[in-house]
Amino acid sequence: MADQYAQTPVGTAPSTLPSLRWDEPPEGPVVVLLDQTRLPAEEVELVCTDVPALVGAIQTLAVRGAPLLGIAGAYGVALAAARGYEVEEAAELLAGARPTAVNLAYGVRRAVAAHRAAIEKGEDRDAAAGAALAEARALHREDAEASVLMAGHGLALLDELLPGGGHRILTHCNTGALVSGGEGTAFAVALEAHRTGRLRRLWVDETRPLLQGARLTAYEAARNGMAYTLLTDNAAGSLFAAGEVDAVLIGADRIAADGSVANKIGSYPLAVLAKYHHVPFIVVAPTTTIDLTTPDGASIEVEQRPGQEVTELTAPPQVLSGGVGVGGGLPVAPLGTQAYNPAFDVTPPELVTAIVTELGAVSPVTGGGISELCARSRQV
Ligand code: MRU
Repeated sequence: MADQYAQTPVGTAPSTLPSLRWDEPPEGPVVVLLDQTRLPAEEVELVCTDVPALVGAIQTLAVRGAPLLGIAGAYGVALAAARGYEVEEAAELLAGARPTAVNLAYGVRRAVAAHRAAIEKGEDRDAAAGAALAEARALHREDAEASVLMAGHGLALLDELLPGGGHRILTHCNTGALVSGGEGTAFAVALEAHRTGRLRRLWVDETRPLLQGARLTAYEAARNGMAYTLLTDNAAGSLFAAGEVDAVLIGADRIAADGSVANKIGSYPLAVLAKYHHVPFIVVAPTTTIDLTTPDGASIEVEQRPGQEVTELTAPPQVLSGGVGVGGGLPVAPLGTQAYNPAFDVTPPELVTAIVTELGAVSPVTGGGISELCARSRQV
């Protein structure tokens, strides 16, 4: 069945625009984002000159995905410090911009700690701002390094679980270079499989309601010349039933101490499908996504998003036509319809075959395995 899709058109060169960068024009330092709400229609940069602008970009998902949110949070603290704003206040705004991806608060915390340590050492305001920026840059670099390691560990695990190559991998949401200092998490593994000739097909879930799969993962897959096929989220079951999925690879926004995984809404049903069809369900995330202070899945705060994201198509305006609804998108439900719109769901550890991090894989996924891995991460 997969081969009838082999003619999927592929893109040209990867974008030269990084997902996030720090810049220092004469008017003062800025955080520059590749605006993900405009993709794939156009590659446009969004320049944030202050923390409220960055918080807005985080909340509208112009910048998104757990690892990149951590990096953005750290640079946001550096921006506040460099522009002379109250750093602790800015940190609180940034860390609270979205509740589920633990990396955001982690990145903010790291930059604040570096800033505070410099102040406590008696350094002046500029030096303290420099310390926050250095910490943001370190986190950015570490995330890029973690990407490379996760890709290697993930591919080794695929080889072990699926000897013979020719992998048909299903992924959900977007986990590539757009969400990372490097090439991403789950997507980086698929990309490595592609580069080494082991990827037969990347099945890309469209990821309702904000279409991160259709708009962003398909964009990244095309740009990298990968063989990919887009499907609606509700087509996944028929794909499993047809025996077309060898493994599911997804990222994570928060991994609790017991190994429960919060990720984009729609991940949990894929885990249930994978279990039923005896297909490995693999989560790829850096250890910065593990939160030992969250004991279990029920303790993870799941972000609830506006109903308009469901009652209206809120894809970039360039791809929409017709009437405009109250949220600015194309209405697909009667006016006044209520919608249930959690941004994430939680997959229990018993449905997860393995969690792959930069330090290696945990499998089976248990609280003990997670805490052992974290103990190792504190030693490096
Ligand atoms: O709401 P988003 O687009 O920020 O959600 C992103 C996801 O759920 C990703 O799968 C997750 O952050 C992992 S990214 C490596």
